[in-house]
Amino acid sequence: MISKKMTDALNRQISLEGYASFLYLSMSAWCDDQGLEGCTSFMRRQSDEEREHMLRIFEYMSDVGAHALTPAIAQVPHTFESSQKMFEMVYAHEQKVSKSIYELMAIAKEENDFTTDNFLQWYITEQREEENLMRSILDKIKLIGDSPMTLYYIDKEINAINAAELKKEAAEGDA
Ligand code: FEO
Repeated sequence: MISKKMTDALNRQISLEGYASFLYLSMSAWCDDQGLEGCTSFMRRQSDEEREHMLRIFEYMSDVGAHALTPAIAQVPHTFESSQKMFEMVYAHEQKVSKSIYELMAIAKEENDFTTDNFLQWYITEQREEENLMRSILDKIKLIGDSPMTLYYIDKEINAINAAELKKEAAEGDA
C-alpha cells in the first residue's frame, strides 16, 4: 500500500499525462489543417503514447491497492502560431512532466517507498528520451527555418523521425 501523499501525487501525474495526450491530439488536428502530414502522424503517435503513460499509472495504482482517479482535463489550445511555436510548447510541457516525475521520485525516496521508486525509473528514462527528441526537432526547425517555403522540408523531417520512432517501438514490442 502506498501513502495518501503518494496516491495524490500519482493522481496529479495521471492528469498531466492525460493533458499531454489531449494537447498532442489537438496539435495533430491543427497540423492536419495545415497540410502537414508528417507532423499530423507524429502528434497522433505522441498522443497515443501519453495515453499509455497515463494508463501505466492507473495499472500501477491498481496493483498497489490505490484508487486512481480519472482526471478532468483542462481545455487545450486548438490553434498554434507556427510549427516552431508548437514544438516549443511540446518541449516546455515535457520539461514540466519531467519535473513532476522528479517530485514523485523525491516523495518515494522520502517515504522509503521502494516499489514506487522502482516503478518511476521507467518514466525517468522515458522523459530523458522525450526531451531529447523534442530538443532535436527544435534544433532541426531552427536549422531549416520556419517559413512557409521550408515547412515542406520540416514536415518531411518530422515524418522520417516518426517512422524511426515507430520502428523503435515495434522493436521494443518484439523484445
Ligand atoms: Fe508522458 Fe511525454 O510525458
